[in-house]
Amino acid sequence: MVRKPIVMANWKMNKLPSEASDYIQHIQKPLLAYPEIETILAGQDVLLDAMVNAAQGTTIEIAAENVYWKERGAYTGETSPAALADLGIKHVIIGHSERRIYFRETNEMVNLKALAALRNGLHPIVAIDEQIQIVSHSDHMHWVVNEVIEALKGINIEDIPNVVLAFEPTQSIGSGQALNADQAQENLYLIRQTVSDMFDAQIADRVRIMYGGSVKPANALALLEKPDIDGVLVGDAALDANTFLELVRLAQ
Ligand code: G3P
Repeated sequence: MVRKPIVMANWKMNKLPSEASDYIQHIQKPLLAYPEIETILAGQDVLLDAMVNAAQGTTIEIAAENVYWKERGAYTGETSPAALADLGIKHVIIGHSERRIYFRETNEMVNLKALAALRNGLHPIVAIDEQIQIVSHSDHMHWVVNEVIEALKGINIEDIPNVVLAFEPTQSIGSGQALNADQAQENLYLIRQTVSDMFDAQIADRVRIMYGGSVKPANALALLEKPDIDGVLVGDAALDANTFLELVRLAQ
């Protein structure tokens, strides 16, 4: 199965609305040379309207960085999945390591958010982390498998191809120390196997899985060449529009 590669920027809380539009204007034309690569930009909520407008008529897809699991109601400060869909957002990151650690998101919350995203026609990009306190190899494997199982619980098999998974080891995020490509492959293989065990092998073969954590042009190619690595989810390096373009070129 040939899976379409993804290069995705997660800007986190680093850009202003005006910077978001400039970035999109800068990359839109050069990206036309890479129709085989899916390019996604994730921004904080206050950027999304500007991002959707700037990306209109381009090949760029926009993602939110978080969502709540209810469509409407008295939940001050939360973001409705129905509102994201209405705005023209296609994807939403769920369960990023920073949300799990700083905002205490549990596996159960990640699952509720993934289900809510799908219910509203959004594609969840479910982040699987590996927190630093996990030391032994077997604990590590159990942690990763468990996060996948808990996140995908109750999702209909026909919705699974609309889910993208992303493995981001916490200690690699923002540290400059990416996992080496072999270690990353080992983890993504484990994640694909878990999807296969939960659903079936054909579905697992269709699901795209990204690696994230200190990806940059110097290490992207080695990662993207691995059989289970279908894309990269990039923080710091992708804040620069030219570096993002370079990553897309490497993914080609
Ligand atoms: O979601 C992407 C991210 O957590 C990786 O960040 O800065 O290590 O590329 P960074």
